[in-house]
Amino acid sequence: MQYKIATLPGDGIGPEIVDQAIKVLKAIGEKYGHSFDFQFALTGAAAIDKVGEPYPDATHEICMAADAVLFGAIGDPKYDNDPKAKVRPEQGLLGMRKKLGLYANIRPVATFPSLIDKSPLKNDRVEGADFVVVRELTGGIYFGQPRGRTEDQKTAFDTCVYSVDEIERILKLAFEYAGKRNKRLTVVDKANVLASSRLWREVSQRMEKDYPEITVDYMFVDNAAMQLIQWPKKFDVMVTENMFGDILSDEASVITGSLGLLPSASVGLHTSVFEPIHGSYPQAAGKNIANPVATILSAAMLLESFNLLDEARKIKDAVNASLDANFVTEDISKEASKSTSEVGDWVADWVKKN
Ligand code: IPM
Ligand code: MN
Repeated sequence: MQYKIATLPGDGIGPEIVDQAIKVLKAIGEKYGHSFDFQFALTGAAAIDKVGEPYPDATHEICMAADAVLFGAIGDPKYDNDPKAKVRPEQGLLGMRKKLGLYANIRPVATFPSLIDKSPLKNDRVEGADFVVVRELTGGIYFGQPRGRTEDQKTAFDTCVYSVDEIERILKLAFEYAGKRNKRLTVVDKANVLASSRLWREVSQRMEKDYPEITVDYMFVDNAAMQLIQWPKKFDVMVTENMFGDILSDEASVITGSLGLLPSASVGLHTSVFEPIHGSYPQAAGKNIANPVATILSAAMLLESFNLLDEARKIKDAVNASLDANFVTEDISKEASKSTSEVGDWVADWVKKN
């Protein structure tokens, strides 16, 4: 089969890590007889520099016409300290999510047996932890109107908005996801304070009846943040609104020992996007030191979306083998300190040979 993959490297370490995922996908293609047609497109600060906007129409068209999007990272420090910047690279990512209708972000968190000692938590707390954060991605305070400043510039405001339809579609996905796993769903909200959270709870309680096989519990987000660190093994599928999900998934990622390991899939109305959960790590850009594993594992999730399950498994096995062999970048082991491209080559070779 031939697959069209819109490839958006973005900023910072984005291009380097995406290169490694491409290498690995090419190795899979050779082995299993698929061809992947990588169509490159601009996004983020790289796109602002070239065409003045972070998610140009040309990029959107390439994404819409593709079978999947492989995304690197977005963000450039030159914008971070300029609160008055008119366009920001992050608007590219948010624009893409909105225009592709990517209402669900799926962030699996599983510990890697050979890295158990890298976790900041005690071994017995993390061994076997395996859960998924399902984050709503196109609503809430990230997009709600009104937002902005009063005319005198002395007050600023953002609005958290959710409709029943938006809540239902993300919860449906989460209930079904839990159904394919261990049948436990934790709905995270702040229903003791927020009206939007109370609506989430109301909708979820109504939907529970349609999924009698799923055990549902409700947790306030502050409590969830604590329980996640204390008892990560307690969770199976966790579903929550956009900003809570942003925060909890970063928190969850350190349980595995490095932010550089975790992939994600964003799915919704149009083409799905696969990207590492980490950012553009500008301090490392161009140095060939960043960990490519999260992006390589995102490529595995991409293959799963094509139902190429053996191929996806092969990538995961290759990554596990590289971790077992301690063939890793400096974030995992200062002594090993392999480069980004060395790790990419190693994983691609393993795929070819096994
Ligand atoms: C993420 C990132 C983005 C977000 C930023 C870069 C806009 O942190 O994908 O988690 O907040 O959603
Ligand atoms: Mn984030």
